Amino acid sequence: MPPLTRGRAIDRGIPNNLMAEYYSQRTGVGLIITEGTFISNQANGWVNAPGIYTEEQTEGWKQVVSAVHAKDTPLFMQLWHCGRASHSSFHDGRLAVAPSAIKINEEYIHTPQGKQPHETPRALETEEIPQIVEDYRKAAENAKRAGFDGVEIHSANGYLLDSFLQSKTNQRTDKYGGSVENRYRFLKEVVEAVITVFPSRRVGVRLSPNGVYNDMGSPDYRSTFLYVAQELNSYGLAYLHILDGLAFGFHELGEQMSLAEFRQVFTGAIIGNCGYTQTTAEAAIREGNADLIAFGRAIISNPDLVERFANNWPLNPDPELKIWYSPGKEGYTDFANYQAS
Ligand SMILES: Cc1cc2nc3c(=O)[nH]c(=O)nc-3n(C[C@H](O)[C@H](O)[C@H](O)COP(=O)(O)O)c2cc1C
Repeated sequence: MPPLTRGRAIDRGIPNNLMAEYYSQRTGVGLIITEGTFISNQANGWVNAPGIYTEEQTEGWKQVVSAVHAKDTPLFMQLWHCGRASHSSFHDGRLAVAPSAIKINEEYIHTPQGKQPHETPRALETEEIPQIVEDYRKAAENAKRAGFDGVEIHSANGYLLDSFLQSKTNQRTDKYGGSVENRYRFLKEVVEAVITVFPSRRVGVRLSPNGVYNDMGSPDYRSTFLYVAQELNSYGLAYLHILDGLAFGFHELGEQMSLAEFRQVFTGAIIGNCGYTQTTAEAAIREGNADLIAFGRAIISNPDLVERFANNWPLNPDPELKIWYSPGKEGYTDFANYQAS
């Protein structure tokens, strides 16, 4: 189960009973990765997404952890900083932060005050970066205290770490910008901070080399992401989680990057994702390009996805967009398991 933001943490980003029930319904998969979870107040950029930076949030996660562990399913938390994909109305009027002052060229963003046009973010000062690295470390520590088995560092989909990696959004001239080594430095520092909390085999990293989501896609995408994967290979991470599929949009700047390419430079476990079916997933594993495949939309509407695959039972259709982030039970915990007639 890949990270899936569902916007049900309606009280100060604190996980609740309903969220525990939702995750519990989806146990039985090889690994559950939680929805993106904010590492700090500054990281926030999504209405009613949870956090892991206050005591109350950390306490709230414990009920999710115990519900999932009660059914013997391992659970990782995805650590998230939205970066420029946020808005001043999340931050008492202060601008969102980014590697460079480059605005997302898309229509609007959902904010606590409804849909608003994107704003040009503020470029982070070099001196501010160590505090954000420390926020990741502290968030990992809180996740560990809450009982998580590990964490996934969200470095995909145009959020803060991805926007540092990519030349389209990183035009810095300090040690965090310019060469690919410099653009990778922030992620490297975050990985090295987080593995002081969890052993590296309990830490995964997510990348989206093909994605256009949040106005991403850089001409040097291939050399950038191969470099990053090669560097990450040295840590003995739990896995590299790659959105290789194009089902969430492709930047079309060249050939799609494939899992096979990542296999050449990354020798640890690889999770593939995005638009897979049971057939294409099994092929990717059989061909040796992936160790796991994550199913996002399918597990929203099929809590018993594993049994359905195993028994060749039909799947419910993908969930409608209108229930992805709507508050409450509808479209969240009300998908039934398959009933054989
Ligand atoms: C409702 C919804 C919420 C998502 N939230 C996140 C998230 O918090 N973090 C993340 O890395 N990806 C997120 N994604 C992307 C999914 O993890 C996954 O990459 C995407 O759904 C494609 O996989 P699929 O074709 O199996 O659905 C989200 C996708 C959906 C549909």
